[in-house]
Amino acid sequence: MRAHWGTRLGFILAAAGSAIGLGNIWKFPYITGENGGGLFVLIYLGCVAVVGLPIMIAEILIGRAAQSSPVSAYKRLSGEDSPWQALGWLGVVCAFVILSYYSVVAGWSLNYIILSLVDTTHGKTPDQIGGIFDTLYKSGSANLLWHFVFLSLTVGIVYGGVQRGIEKACRVLMPMLFVMVGALVVYCLIETPSGFAKAFGFILEPDREKLTPRGVLEALGHSFFTLSLGMGAMLTYGSYMSKEDDITRSSLWIVGLDTLISMLACFMIFPFVLGHGQVPAQGPGLVFKTLPIIFSTLPAGLLVSLVFFVLLALAALTSAISLLEVSTSYFIDEHEWERPKAVLVTGVITLVLGVPSALAGGGGMLPEWEAMFGMNFFDTFDYLASNWLLTFGGFATAIYAGWFLPDRLRREEFASGSRFGKLYPVWLWTLRVSPVAILVVLLYKVGLLKV
Ligand code: TRP
Repeated sequence: MRAHWGTRLGFILAAAGSAIGLGNIWKFPYITGENGGGLFVLIYLGCVAVVGLPIMIAEILIGRAAQSSPVSAYKRLSGEDSPWQALGWLGVVCAFVILSYYSVVAGWSLNYIILSLVDTTHGKTPDQIGGIFDTLYKSGSANLLWHFVFLSLTVGIVYGGVQRGIEKACRVLMPMLFVMVGALVVYCLIETPSGFAKAFGFILEPDREKLTPRGVLEALGHSFFTLSLGMGAMLTYGSYMSKEDDITRSSLWIVGLDTLISMLACFMIFPFVLGHGQVPAQGPGLVFKTLPIIFSTLPAGLLVSLVFFVLLALAALTSAISLLEVSTSYFIDEHEWERPKAVLVTGVITLVLGVPSALAGGGGMLPEWEAMFGMNFFDTFDYLASNWLLTFGGFATAIYAGWFLPDRLRREEFASGSRFGKLYPVWLWTLRVSPVAILVVLLYKVGLLKV
């Protein structure tokens, strides 16, 4: 019999754990910074509500209806030789690709946990502190080591199975994460009230000037990434859900928690940044360079730093678990492997696939690659996955669920266990319209649409 979640809360925490990740804490604050705050946040919220939520419901619904992981799910719902199974394949490929470099970034946060324990910033100038990251980035052996450690933790949890591994871990880790985010926001409020006030202004006041049409597209793209949509992760988690559970209600919780953490992440990062005379639009270095510089000047800075990087590692871990579960459940469902074998094999494949990303900063690694794509392996993977595969996957999922899933099944599944059954037409129409918004993003990305 297929494994199921032990409790509804367990499912919500696991799915929220998948959604809440580096995207919320590392990426959202810096793209908000780059796009001038305010209005960008508003548009992002709109995208989450109008495009993200309906597709989240759709993905979970497909999984629950089929009670199987992506590839088998499309086969079960639309026939053994249905072309839609390609969408399942895309999900499995995506899971390998994303996890391989996600684990490298997550590894950096493990490295910073250790650095917070042994105080390496004492007496250093800001430039030297920023330089710590450059050294780490260039060190192949350090990256490989942390990549290995992080992936082993992920494998260890997924090895335990749905209830005793994933659910149990998320029930402990997610509350820890919420407490740490709360603690850091309160700390910011007390430590730099002026920075907090500035952050409020920055995040809540719409600044028309800074927002470009490009920013709007970025908001839409990010809403996919942050909700883990478009690659079968929510589908897989949904497949462990029972018919008595309320899909719409759970989706509201997952989307709500994800959004809350993204907003709180801004309120724990911008007060530091703005209150200490730094600029918010720092790009990817915001978390690994700017923050350590600020932490080094704070009272109890090492403790703050420790809490922050543990938080980052936890957020990454609960997302990594769901990525590994997608590829693992593929082997379990399609090839009837036992879980231990499936987890170990997918773990080793991901480990190997991540090696070029781990060595990306080392220079000289695959120079032909860099020459051909104009970016290193790591950036290529990130770009490919978050810009293309997920957007396309979300587009196709919305079309499948909106137009090709048999209506009776879709209606029954939507209403099963749900008190929101009456909203079926609203959901369906939003779902049917959402691909238009995604298409605009895709056309813009291939250059057929100029803004
Ligand atoms: N949502 C994750 C984050 O915000 C990243 C992510 C994208 C992801 N797709 C995923 C995580 C699929 C797990 C599964 O960081």
